[in-house]
Amino acid sequence: MNEIAQNLNQQMQQENPYAYELLSELGKKLFYPKGILTQTAEAKQKAYRFNATIGIATEKDGPMFLPLIQETLTKYAPKDLYPYAPPAGKPELRQLWQEKMLKENPSLMDKSISNPIVTNALTHGLSIIADLFVDENDPFVLPDKLWGNYNFIFGIRRGAKNLTFPFYTAEGSFNTRGMKDTLLSKKDYGKAILLLNFPNNPTGYTPNEQEATEIVTALMEVADQGMNLAVICDDAYFGLFYENSIKESLFSRIADIHPRILAIKVDGATKEDYMWGFRVGFITYGSKFPAVLDGLEKKTLGILRGTISSASHPAQTFVLNALKSTDFQAQKQEKFEVLRKRACKVKQILNHGHYDDAWDYYPFNSGYFMCLKLKGVDAETLRIHLLEQYGVGVISLGESDIRVAFSCVEEQELKNLYDLIYQGFQDLSKQNSSEA
Ligand SMILES: Cc1ncc(COP(=O)(O)O)c(C=O)c1O
Repeated sequence: MNEIAQNLNQQMQQENPYAYELLSELGKKLFYPKGILTQTAEAKQKAYRFNATIGIATEKDGPMFLPLIQETLTKYAPKDLYPYAPPAGKPELRQLWQEKMLKENPSLMDKSISNPIVTNALTHGLSIIADLFVDENDPFVLPDKLWGNYNFIFGIRRGAKNLTFPFYTAEGSFNTRGMKDTLLSKKDYGKAILLLNFPNNPTGYTPNEQEATEIVTALMEVADQGMNLAVICDDAYFGLFYENSIKESLFSRIADIHPRILAIKVDGATKEDYMWGFRVGFITYGSKFPAVLDGLEKKTLGILRGTISSASHPAQTFVLNALKSTDFQAQKQEKFEVLRKRACKVKQILNHGHYDDAWDYYPFNSGYFMCLKLKGVDAETLRIHLLEQYGVGVISLGESDIRVAFSCVEEQELKNLYDLIYQGFQDLSKQNSSEA
């Protein structure tokens, strides 16, 4: 194993062996090399005469560029677009994202967390975490209502053993008991990776205060029984809280609460700032132990360097500009209101009771989506029928669930949408009974 990796591992082991034990074989091997980038960084500080280290082309004290590109981006300085961004991301963007995180999650103030590291949006952040912490057959625990891509990121790519538990209790709250029992079913294995995604895709659910407290207590109890836990908070839809749920990330509560619990926050501009195609995300670690934070940051940089090398500089500049703008908060609030009103309208429509013979809906209070639980009609059959007969697109999940993204239907169209879904349901339901 490389000497730098050995040193990082040793330092992590000395301060917190549990975090070290959570690493995958690849995670243990990773380090950040003292290669060209380190030499370039040194030259940037000291080479005042000629700096012939950088792997880009320059002229007139700036990066070389094609004027036809710059013409479309005149508001931006060439230095903020064309050169490589550092592998960890633009320092100013990292700092501002951290400040934003602390402002939106005040209970993080007295926690020990790393600086956010820039990724090529959340999917990439999650796949880095999978590389760092998952070996073949490692238990990967998550609720059964989930974003399907986790199967690829953790299962297909890294061979994790998916263990799901029912998302809701019979009463419709978050199933903390199921989470705890599923984790403890792997107690002998000694380690698990837990993924929690709130606001949730596909349900649109975020726990309330009591549920959040119960989740944290359950995790502490599991850790007290000797299990090492890497807890990933996928905060893709962070901030879109419309009702009485918690308004901070669970990461604030989980970061540095127990030596056996490593908290990991994966978030980004994708959904919360409506910049899906920009591909800017972040990874932040929470641990009391400085050598763990340092080791994980360097290992993360190592994998970044060995995969994408660095995320898009223009995209980072666009996000940075947004964060610095005095209009940012007001514009974000405006869009939040649009989505909140849609969520509210959906509840109003569903609570009328017109569709009660067709479906129940799962509790939702946040995010982009909500889910219907169909009564006696197959979800995929309904999805296809709606597409072919009514030109309505929804997502079918399993046998009975339909996900509706109110994020992409105007408030005044929502009634029409649910009426059409209901119409489609009735067509199939009638068909079923005439066949019976
Ligand atoms: C829960 C969740 N996490 C992560 C992602 C991926 O986000 P990104 O587009 O930033 O990779 C999505 C996208 O749909 C998502 O729903």
